[in-house]
Amino acid sequence: MKRTYIADLKDHVGQEVTIAGWLYNKRSSGKVRFVLVRDGTGICQATAFKPELDPAIFDLCDSLDQETSITVTGVVKAFEKAPGGFELGLKNLAIVGVSKDYPITPKEHGVAFLMENRHLWLRSSRQHAIMRIRHQVIRAVRDFFDDQGFTLIDSPILTANACEGTSTLFETEYFGEKAYLSQSGQLYNEAAAMAFGKVYCFGPTFRAEKSKTRRHLTEFWMVEPEVAFMDLEEDMDLAEAFIEFVVQRVLSRCAPELKVIERDVTKLANVKRPFPRLRYSDAMTFLAEKKAEFAKSDDEELRKLSADILKNGPGDDLGAADETAIGMSHDRPVMVHRYPAAVKAFYMKNDPADPNFALCVDVIAPEGVGEIIGGGQREEDLSVLEGKIAQHGLSGDAFKWYNDLRRYGSVPHSGFGMGIERMVGWVTGAHHVRETIPFPRMMEKIWP
Ligand code: 4AD
Ligand code: MG
Repeated sequence: MKRTYIADLKDHVGQEVTIAGWLYNKRSSGKVRFVLVRDGTGICQATAFKPELDPAIFDLCDSLDQETSITVTGVVKAFEKAPGGFELGLKNLAIVGVSKDYPITPKEHGVAFLMENRHLWLRSSRQHAIMRIRHQVIRAVRDFFDDQGFTLIDSPILTANACEGTSTLFETEYFGEKAYLSQSGQLYNEAAAMAFGKVYCFGPTFRAEKSKTRRHLTEFWMVEPEVAFMDLEEDMDLAEAFIEFVVQRVLSRCAPELKVIERDVTKLANVKRPFPRLRYSDAMTFLAEKKAEFAKSDDEELRKLSADILKNGPGDDLGAADETAIGMSHDRPVMVHRYPAAVKAFYMKNDPADPNFALCVDVIAPEGVGEIIGGGQREEDLSVLEGKIAQHGLSGDAFKWYNDLRRYGSVPHSGFGMGIERMVGWVTGAHHVRETIPFPRMMEKIWP
């Protein structure tokens, strides 16, 4: 079917074109019918004027239901007030597929209902805009690393070892043996960094998260760079340059989408290097101050948050409320580094200055989603690493190949992982990460 995309109408002013899409909305006024059609690239108003039209076509305009698929033919006119700035003087209209009782109407629906209808919800303008932003985030991620000479190395999804602890593994049977869906491509990335110097992997990762929070999915996409001879400080430099690039790219390429979702872009404009760097121990002091400050606030929300700050106590990982408090007190991402080694993964290198702490970093977004990046410097000494593997109760056999990387020319190296959905959640201001992936997978959600 010869058709013109709505996004390309600017190149066809004065010409007759056919648009193929779905009925978004319609209005009538006397002898005029306004047919709003969306085709995925935009929304266009086709205007039917009774005296100039075959009566059957005019009547057809009245019969259209929401989401009926149609073709409309007419001459393109520039018209500032129309959505997208162009209008079609309707000459012909044909129905491709009818749509009766489309479940998602312009009225408000509950989230449970919308999630049940995710396959249709994706057509709504807000969801459409968020997915377009996700697409640009992914393009920016690839461009950033590709332009700096990183090689993309795909890591396997079926794996024999755990990377991020054994409590969130999805297990499957693999020809009589146990296998797991990958929690992270990092271990393979480390092998690749020893072959290519600087690499990244980017793919779906899986965690059997039993927590029902707005930040957790069981299947999410993660991009992970890994660089040989890079230390923690350089890792943090890389993370902040990367985040700045992605955010600024979204600002420059997604203005229409950000407008649809009514995102306050002034908050994103601040996202420029350098980002604040806070030692874990200083973060604890900062949180204790915030806890006291929020407890005295007139704002009930802040008082509630105060009660949840530092629930985990010193020596533990930060909790969701801690991350929220750190995020909301800054206008750009905050890099919290050197957590207690005991709460972090087996592969982290201990800080030589104080081995109770790990050379790691979590980057916390200034609004909403909490941690967007986790990473750090890896243990490069074979005997120390073997000790940590045993300490974490992991099977030495499964890590034989990984330990080889310390046997044959081991070097200091570092990297990080960024969850695409958390990043998209932050830049779009989506309240829950379920809106940032086309078909979210969560504890009680594997359908549609
Ligand atoms: O902090 P995490 O667990 O780090 C790793 O997996 C490292 N192996 C990465 C590396 O150094 N190569 O996860 C990294 C990021 C988090 O900061 C978060 O953005 C995202 O992955 N993430 C999740 N996103 C959605 N749902 C979940 N359940 C997530 N778990 C982690
Ligand atoms: Mg983490």
